[in-house]
Amino acid sequence: MKNNNFILKEFLDNAFNLKSHLMEFLSIEECDLDGFLANAKINLANLHPGDALSDVSDFYTKIVGDRHLADLAAWHITSKDYITDTLKLQQRFSRDLVLDFGGGIGTHALANAMSSKVEHVFFVDINETNRNFVEYRAKELGVEKKITFFKSIEDAQISKFDTIVCLDVLEHLADPASQIEIFKEIMDCNSIALLNWYFYKGEKNEYPFHIDDNQIIENFFKTMQSNFLEVFHPILITARAYKKIR
Ligand SMILES: C[S@@+](CC[C@H](N)C(=O)[O-])C[C@H]1O[C@@H](n2cnc3c(N)ncnc32)[C@H](O)[C@@H]1O
Repeated sequence: MKNNNFILKEFLDNAFNLKSHLMEFLSIEECDLDGFLANAKINLANLHPGDALSDVSDFYTKIVGDRHLADLAAWHITSKDYITDTLKLQQRFSRDLVLDFGGGIGTHALANAMSSKVEHVFFVDINETNRNFVEYRAKELGVEKKITFFKSIEDAQISKFDTIVCLDVLEHLADPASQIEIFKEIMDCNSIALLNWYFYKGEKNEYPFHIDDNQIIENFFKTMQSNFLEVFHPILITARAYKKIR
C-alpha cells in the first residue's frame, strides 16, 4: 500500500503511467500519441448523433468504442490540478467497500485501490473498452486483487457500499435522479457519496452527450434535496460529499 502523498505525486508525475498504458493497450506508437490525444475531445463530440440517438446509453455501449479512452486521458493529463483535487477528496472520505460508478479510465478507482483505508473497489462502467483498459492498468500497477469490474451495479451483487464515487458521470445519464435513488439504496447511514455534475452541452456544443433538459435537472435536484445531506469539505467546490438523510 502507498501513502496519500505518494499516490498524489504519482498521479502528478505521470497520471499512473497513463501514456505508456495507452500505447501498450491500444498499440499506438509514441510518435502518434500526442496527435491521438490532441484531437480526442473534438473527435468524441463529432461521434455523437444528436437527436437521432434514442437511447442515451447506446452512445457509450455502441458508438464510442475506444474514443472515450482518448478523450478522458487527454482531460486527465491537461487538467491534472483538478483531477488531483478530486483524488484528495476521495482520500479524505474513501474507506472499506468503494463503488466507482462510471469509472472511465480508472484514475480514481486505481488511486482508491492503492489506499490502505480501502478494502475493495467495485469498478462499474457501461463501456467494455473502459473496463478492459482499467483491468489492464490495475495489473500493470499491481493492484488487481483490490478491483473487480462490472457493467452494472446489480452485477456486483453488493448490498451496501461505504463509499460511492460518481464523478463527471451524472450528466451522461438519461435519468440522473433515478441513479441517485439507486445510490441511496446501497448506502447506510455512515456511507458517503462523492458526486458532481455538469448539466451543460458547452458554449459550442463541445459536450453534445451531456443532459441539459430543465425538467430532468429539476427532478434531479428535488431528489437530491429530499434524500441527501451535504457533508462539508474544504477541498474543492465542484465535487461534493453526501450522506443519505434517512
Ligand atoms: C466523463 S466519464 C467520467 C469518468 C470518470 N469518472 C472520471 O472522473 O474521469 C463518464 C463515464 O461514465 C460512463 N457511463 C456512461 N453511462 C453509464 C451508465 N449508464 N452506467 C455506467 N457507466 C456509464 C462512461 O462510459 C464514462 O466512462
